[in-house]
Amino acid sequence: MSFRLQPTPPARPNRCQLFGPGSRPAIFEKMAASAADVINLDLEDSVAPDDKPAARGNIIEAINGIDWGKKTLSVRINGLDTPYWYRDVVEVLEGAGDRLDMIMIPKVGCAADVYAVDALVTAIERAKGRANPIAFEVIIESAAGIAHVEEIAASSPRLQAMSLGAADFAASMGMQTTGIGGTQENYYMAHEGAKYWSDPWHWAQAAIVAACRTHGVLPVDGPFGDFSDDEGFVAQARRSATLGMVGKWAIHPKQVALANEVFTPSEAQVSEAREILAAMEKAKGEGAGATVYKGRLVDIASIRQAEVIVRQSEMIAAG
Ligand code: COA
Ligand code: MG
Repeated sequence: MSFRLQPTPPARPNRCQLFGPGSRPAIFEKMAASAADVINLDLEDSVAPDDKPAARGNIIEAINGIDWGKKTLSVRINGLDTPYWYRDVVEVLEGAGDRLDMIMIPKVGCAADVYAVDALVTAIERAKGRANPIAFEVIIESAAGIAHVEEIAASSPRLQAMSLGAADFAASMGMQTTGIGGTQENYYMAHEGAKYWSDPWHWAQAAIVAACRTHGVLPVDGPFGDFSDDEGFVAQARRSATLGMVGKWAIHPKQVALANEVFTPSEAQVSEAREILAAMEKAKGEGAGATVYKGRLVDIASIRQAEVIVRQSEMIAAG
């Protein structure tokens, strides 16, 4: 390990981020009543160009007027390649009170994109004297985003979370698919007449996790478009959790419970982690750095693995 410690990411639950179009205020109360840890009110791609101004107004009213409980509240602004984003930032930050926690910046391609939004947000915060400094989350959803993922993860002390946006990512990469995440029919290995599907999102996810863990940012899996396919959603979420991601988006309310289930360590996982810690404590008392737990090797690295699970479950319980 290098001499600098890996920074700790923000200690807040981020198992599920529920999205809703800013142009559909009728669902805002339902979003607030959901079991999602994070709420993303959208000004970007789920809102038609003509509806952007009204959506900003709806969102400001909802941030100030609805009881969002303990949820982390975020607004997704438009990308820096649009004429909308600066008004999104100015109007939302000037109009919304301190209840707003985060801004989500889509289609980030380099660290300077985050710097630009940071400069604007910082000026507005100084002018308005906000008590709750705005945090950032970004979406990696372009070839440039994944190519510059490490500098983006290091771009701003405001940055708390980074998501993979499968649909725009696929488009930017020129991938032959119109699906949003999940299994891709033509991405398989063939052996003796059988097909074995592998995961085309894997490498981008792993790159995001590595960049995030290096810089103390939460890695998050983005949308899964086919909300009639629970099995596919859960399989995708389990792969993400195994790789180190902390949560996943929901683009329909029925996906919230699925994400929460996957990203909450089970009782069995937590008790096994505690048993491993106890076994290692006992080994330490006997002067050993490694021991046997249920027939397999556990050593000092196992302590760190077990601590991840125990810490996660304690944080979720406290949340
Ligand atoms: N959050 C909370 N509640 C929602 C919701 C959301 N995102 N989307 C729908 N609902 C509610 C509906 O109002 C309905 O409530 P009711 O039972 O009280 O009538 C219920 O959930 C079932 O909705 P359903 O009819 O199955 O879906 P829909 O056709 O109304 O909407 C979508 C489907 C996909 C258009 C909608 O879920 C949506 O806009 N999702 C978010 C899209 C988005 O933000 N994309 C950007 C990020 S990729
Ligand atoms: Mg997108």
